[in-house]
Amino acid sequence: MTAVNRYTFAQRLLHWLLAILIFGLLAGGLTFWALGYEGLVKLVGEQIAGDLYMYHKSFGILILLLTFLRLWLRWRHPAPPYDPPLRLPERLVSGALILGLYLLSLAVPIIGGLATSAEGYPVQFFGLTLPGLLAENEELGEELFDLHGLGALILGLAVLVHMAAGIKHWLLKDGIMTRISLP
Ligand code: HEM
Ligand code: HEM
Repeated sequence: MTAVNRYTFAQRLLHWLLAILIFGLLAGGLTFWALGYEGLVKLVGEQIAGDLYMYHKSFGILILLLTFLRLWLRWRHPAPPYDPPLRLPERLVSGALILGLYLLSLAVPIIGGLATSAEGYPVQFFGLTLPGLLAENEELGEELFDLHGLGALILGLAVLVHMAAGIKHWLLKDGIMTRISLP
């Protein structure tokens, strides 16, 4: 395994930063889904519940921005070659899963932002309130939130499959993990 077979340091750093952020958002979103707004307020009070929603939206938008940065880096530095090369079926399956992870990392936050503005809630990015991209329409907002939850569920499942494959390669010590590992 040489540097030629690894992603650049910036790409490896972004992979693990985004992995942490996406795990956090999935766990936070799951909590919102399980408790609902009222349940969350009962548990932690109105102030903290409001802050948690604000952080969910803010870190979600950060994921969107960092995923665009990641795709731009990927375009500038295409994936390193595999050593030994992958067989065609492996290439197709891993390529499709990675494409799915990228598409979902973009679609889930975009739909979350659109749902938020359609429901008439503020689209918060830390201290800022961004302009909502949709006019208020409660029915559309509910449909988009359903889609947001479904997209997040599929993203969570895709991440689990991806992680299982990553751990398998790590145990096999076949060099795939070194392509993306930090050290
Ligand atoms: C939310 C969590 C994660 C997401 C969204 C994610 C996403 C991605 C994406 C999009 C790539 C492809 C990079 C590219 O070719 O442009 C990738 C590569 C990789 N990831 Fe993850 N990842 C996550 C977590 C993990 C975890 C926990 C592991 C380890 C158990 C892991 C192991 C790998 C490995 C080994 C590669 C290199 C695959 C290859 O080059 O064929 N990932 N990841
Ligand atoms: C990758 C990024 C994101 C992930 C993984 C994620 C995940 C989730 C999940 C799993 C839920 C629970 C679904 C449900 O209650 O049916 C949720 C709810 C929510 N998300 Fe996200 N989200 C992300 C980004 C965003 C963004 C960018 C925004 C807004 C700017 C947003 C706004 C919301 C709101 C307001 C709720 C509560 C919906 C409700 O209570 O009906 N999310 N999110």
